[in-house]
Amino acid sequence: MNDAKIFVSHSEDDTRKFGHSLGDALMPGVTVLLYGDLGAGKTVLVRGAAEAFGITGVRSPSFTLINEYTSGTGIYIIHADLYRLDPEGVCALGLDEYAGADDAVLFVEWPERWANPPVDDVVRVYFTALNEAEREIRISAYGAKSEEVIKRL
Ligand SMILES: Nc1ncnc2c1ncn2[C@@H]1O[C@H](COP(=O)(O)OP(=O)(O)OP(=O)(O)O)[C@@H](O)[C@H]1O
Ligand SMILES: [Mg+2]
Repeated sequence: MNDAKIFVSHSEDDTRKFGHSLGDALMPGVTVLLYGDLGAGKTVLVRGAAEAFGITGVRSPSFTLINEYTSGTGIYIIHADLYRLDPEGVCALGLDEYAGADDAVLFVEWPERWANPPVDDVVRVYFTALNEAEREIRISAYGAKSEEVIKRL
C-alpha cells in the first residue's frame, strides 16, 4: 500500500506548524526521509515535529551530522543530515541502530546519500520550492505504521 498527501506551505511558520501536525501523528519506530534542495525547509519541518514531542530549539545537523533529543516520555528524536557524507561516512554514522527502534523516531535529511535506507515504516517527505516563500510538501508512506501516520494527518 502507498498513500500520499500534499500540503502547500506559504511561509516558514506554515512549514513548522505542518511539521508539528506530522509530529502529533508520528509514532516510535517510524523513519522520516526528507528530500529537497538546500533551504527547502527540511530542518524547519523537523523543528516543528520535535515540538510535538515537547522538544524545542532543534538546530540543523549540517555540521554535527546527527543530533539526538529525548522527549519527556522517553522517546528519542534522532535528526541526521547526510549532505556532507559519502556512503562510508553514512555507514559510520550508524543510522541502522535507530531505524525502526521502538523508542525512537529518526529524521534524515539528504537520504539520497544513504545506500540502504529502511523500506518499511518509512514516511517520505518531498519538498519543492514554488517560489521564495512557498513550498509544496508531498508525503508518502510505506509500511503499516507509516500509513497510519498519513491517515492521522
Ligand atoms: N515555506 C517555507 N517553509 C520553510 N522554510 C521557508 C519557507 N519559505 C522560506 N523559508 C526559508 O527557507 C529556509 C529553510 O531552511 P532549512 O534549514 O529548513 O532548509 P533545509 O531544507 O534543511 O536545507 P539544508 O539542506 O541546507 O539543510 C529558512 O531560511 C526559511 O526561513
Ligand atoms: Mg537542513
